[in-house]
Amino acid sequence: MESHSKLHIHTHDPDMKFDPPKRVADVAHVQSFAQYEKMYKQSIKEPEIFWGEIAEQFFWASQPSGAFMTYNFDIQKGPISIKWMEGAKTNICYNVLDRNVEKGLGDKIAFFWEGNYPGDDKKITYKELLEEVCKFSNVLKQLGVKKGDRVAMYMPMIVELVVAMLACARIGAVHSIVFAGFSAESLRDRILDASCSAIITADGVWRGPKLLNLKVIVDKALHFCAEKGKPVTHCVVVQHLTNGDATDSEEKGKRPCKSLQVTMKEDRDRWWHELMTSASNHNDPEWVDAEDPLFMLYTSGSTGKPKGVLHTVAGYMMYAATTSKYTFDLHADDVYWCTADIGWITGHTYVCYGPLANGVTSVIFEGTPMFPDAGRLWDVVDKYKVTKFYTAPTAIRSLMKFGDSFVTKYDRSSLKILGTVGEPINPEAWHWYNNVVGNGNCAVVDTFWQTETGGHVITPLPGATKTKAGSATFPFFGIVPAILSEDGVEVNGPGQGYLVFKQAWPGMMRTVYGDHERFETTYFKKFPGYYCTGDGGKRDEEGYIWITGRIDDLVNVSGHLLSTAEVESALIEHDSVAEAASVSHPHSIKGECIYCFVTLNEGETFTEELSKELTQVVREKIGPFAQPDFIQNAPALPKTRSGKIMRRILRKIAVNDHDVGDTSTLADESVIDTLFSLRCSNA
Ligand code: WTA
Repeated sequence: MESHSKLHIHTHDPDMKFDPPKRVADVAHVQSFAQYEKMYKQSIKEPEIFWGEIAEQFFWASQPSGAFMTYNFDIQKGPISIKWMEGAKTNICYNVLDRNVEKGLGDKIAFFWEGNYPGDDKKITYKELLEEVCKFSNVLKQLGVKKGDRVAMYMPMIVELVVAMLACARIGAVHSIVFAGFSAESLRDRILDASCSAIITADGVWRGPKLLNLKVIVDKALHFCAEKGKPVTHCVVVQHLTNGDATDSEEKGKRPCKSLQVTMKEDRDRWWHELMTSASNHNDPEWVDAEDPLFMLYTSGSTGKPKGVLHTVAGYMMYAATTSKYTFDLHADDVYWCTADIGWITGHTYVCYGPLANGVTSVIFEGTPMFPDAGRLWDVVDKYKVTKFYTAPTAIRSLMKFGDSFVTKYDRSSLKILGTVGEPINPEAWHWYNNVVGNGNCAVVDTFWQTETGGHVITPLPGATKTKAGSATFPFFGIVPAILSEDGVEVNGPGQGYLVFKQAWPGMMRTVYGDHERFETTYFKKFPGYYCTGDGGKRDEEGYIWITGRIDDLVNVSGHLLSTAEVESALIEHDSVAEAASVSHPHSIKGECIYCFVTLNEGETFTEELSKELTQVVREKIGPFAQPDFIQNAPALPKTRSGKIMRRILRKIAVNDHDVGDTSTLADESVIDTLFSLRCSNA
């Protein structure tokens, strides 16, 4: 079936299938669905052989001491544990840099760096990157950072961030990157939870037209840590903004030189460039155990306290490399671009480790899709002749509303594969991505995965899988999905329920840092024997998997998971608030947004001004991206007799749906009418 057309599709048929474009399939690593099925079968029936062959493509300083893999997913049989190639020694930095240089890729561009301002750019080759990483490894060592130590990073999208991560990996230290949009308090909590001894940051960054002073936020966070008696010993600061004067910045594009006030605390704070000048560019990698920790990354938990998701070296390395290779069908001549921030898992796996492991050239982008205008992404695509492009549905939706001309005025003929990640993609956005951005000529891969899974788990393969708009389609190699009913029975054939995985894969998380019990409870307790994603899934008549969204109290705002509990506890910190409840509300661009109900203390009045203050509280406690879109006054909340808030009802009120279902368990049913009368009318 040739269903690619340049026309907008107005009526959407969910079962309409799209063939892999011939120009993609003809050169693909996996060229047919039959080939995918064959490889898939082996990957789940004989994982040792499948992953064993992949392992041979990496360097190992020593081989596994025992079984190639062992795991237990059944909490009733003992502690949950997942191990791949335990006892083998390797180093991921060595594998993604030194080996590429040894293979002759030294002069190949590893990254094109594209700054926030068009014209502000630079590039770095594999050899140069290796040199920088070796130097920074030596800097870290000199600061006393040792194998196993945790190093926090709060950085913009600059090459130094990749250098810092790889240097940690090289010396066996564990990086803990905090997205540089989190507040000082969120940063503090993450630093304290991981007991980080050092932090790497930058003076500041321009995000679109806004200047952010990162160092001030870090100073605040470090001040809190010291107050708690857990000071961070070292803070390394990249001078990203303040080098150069006005004339210099005119030449380099427009990175402003407006001096930021950066205070350097004696003994604690050092400039990156000063430390680097004296560092040697030779560094022998530390041979670490396959199951040693590589990094941790915090993700929202439904109780409100973020979880430090821990990934280990060998399994993650193989999985990042393999998913990148097959999902984006990477080849030597590709120019690959993932727009995600490295502060999220997508940036870890698909900006840094995955593409480097495949020796390709990638783009790192500091800016935003809207700056200086809605054509920026396609401008950058043309500038570097990007072949594989990966972004989030929220970005696609926000660009769609500016119309096609911002896209069509650019050539884009280099594009072959278009990926999406982070949230379910609505069919309208999928079709626009496919038809307008991709000219009906590219493969669209809707990749489902999580911080916890390390890499893609449900995804089409661009040369093999016929896609359906809005379906993540089929499992990646090694992944055995199942759909479970509420009572834990597997749904065979078409049906809907909890999306779970039955078998371990190399890239999955190993534990929650410092709290293995929480790892077990969160992911393995509800359905013994299965890893529970927390997402709903649906299998259609043809076996395609559709992700239906979170089934816990997490809200997905522009692809970022937030817990409603976290937002609520921020709100309650305001003096006027007695109680708060927040729920997810649909949003045309962000996918979902946050709608809050607040009960005020006796004697307080709900005003526009208070609502603004509350919004500000959430921004300060969590970060600007967590800002609620709606806050309504709730003289009382709908509760059961035992005092449990019935969020199901609040969700209905938020969308003005009067069909609230059974309310017989409510302590006071009259609350509902009051809440409907006070709802935010613009929601
Ligand atoms: C959601 C991001 C539908 C899902 C890589 C998941 C998706 C959560 C998709 C993980 C997709 C991610 N279709 N939903 N293609 N990709 N999600 O940890 O709810 O930031 O559980 O990892 O995003 O978000 P996280």
